[in-house]
Amino acid sequence: MNLLIHDLTAAEWELAKDDYKDWTVISDNGTIRPCIGCFCCWTGGKGECVFRDGYENMGSLIHEADEMVVMSRYTYGGFSSFVKNVFDRSIGYVLPEFETAYGEMHHKKRYAGDRPVTFRFRGSALTKADKEKARNYVAAVCRNLRGTVKEVIFDECAPAKTGTAVPSPRSAGRSGILLADCSLRGKRSNTAVFLEKLREYMDVPAQILSLSDGISPDEAAAAVSRAGTVVLGVPLYVDGLPSPAIRLMEAVKEKYSGDPCRIYAVVNNGLYESRQNDNLLEMIKAWCSDCGFIYSGALAIGAGEVVGTLMRGQKHVLWPARNALIRLSALAKAVKGSEENGDDYADTFLFPRWLYILIANTNWQRLKKTAARGKQR
Ligand SMILES: Cc1cc2nc3c(=O)[nH]c(=O)nc-3n(C[C@H](O)[C@H](O)[C@H](O)COP(=O)(O)O)c2cc1C
Repeated sequence: MNLLIHDLTAAEWELAKDDYKDWTVISDNGTIRPCIGCFCCWTGGKGECVFRDGYENMGSLIHEADEMVVMSRYTYGGFSSFVKNVFDRSIGYVLPEFETAYGEMHHKKRYAGDRPVTFRFRGSALTKADKEKARNYVAAVCRNLRGTVKEVIFDECAPAKTGTAVPSPRSAGRSGILLADCSLRGKRSNTAVFLEKLREYMDVPAQILSLSDGISPDEAAAAVSRAGTVVLGVPLYVDGLPSPAIRLMEAVKEKYSGDPCRIYAVVNNGLYESRQNDNLLEMIKAWCSDCGFIYSGALAIGAGEVVGTLMRGQKHVLWPARNALIRLSALAKAVKGSEENGDDYADTFLFPRWLYILIANTNWQRLKKTAARGKQR
């Protein structure tokens, strides 16, 4: 079986389809749901997603494929929201347990062998730097999903359609600080904890908006359009932006670009190294430059699950979160004063990678057992 994941328009697909006659084709039929970060694909044991929308078996499909091709519109150095949605729903391809690989923390393989993947990006007048970003990005995706990049191809296409900018926000004037939580995990979101802490340190009124509250990308984009300063809170998903964040960014770009505001970001990732957020920060910067926004810096927090959990808890167990707290406080000062922050990184304090892997792997075993007991009942 050969597997194609694509986001081609109907007209583009008409031209391409003869080349993929007997392939299994994953395309946008309008039913795909975003990953909500519940990790049931991992705790359930088999890598299947709990959402039965036709995209629940991506891990095993990727495994069964002899050939795999991914076609995506080039979007801020990575995939379009649909293709990224499919990848966010594919983490069952690897196991939840961790090990050190390529000198970093990564997930263990569920399946033996290396999955080679061909990536085909469509873009308009992509520069050498744009192409380099995409190459770096897919290399990171393949390291993380324990596959290999077979080839990266760039195809020229017409520029993406952009709508007419809505004039009212500009004339009304932007004001206030918006903290936009792009995680769909609701109360369990580590991003929510970090943004709350940032607000506490800023000690000025700031609105928190969470994409998990069921607001549409257009409503969220309208909130972004009213704010003078926006702090994007973003979890790292498959080495880049989670698909709901891309949908929000696309909506902002379509309707409100050219109406400048200051953008900061607080990003976090589950793996140990905060530097694994670099591609994500590049994507946010590319979006800012595309929209004419003033990128003013970010904080990248590594081992976000540990740091987020500790920040919810008691003060005496906060030591591994020390760096994140110090840097959140510095970022709060920059946001409050509308100053440049630069890109800042917070790894855990006196909490080595081997210990994190040991604790996390024990925890995954416990979660899998609990899930199995739940199924038996
Ligand atoms: C679909 C999915 C993909 C993820 N991909 C990565 C990744 O590529 N690298 C990483 O370090 N963590 C990854 N994580 C872990 C999250 O970044 C981590 O759990 C983070 O703390 C979630 O933040 P939140 O609670 O604010 O959503 C992934 C999690 C999910 C659900």
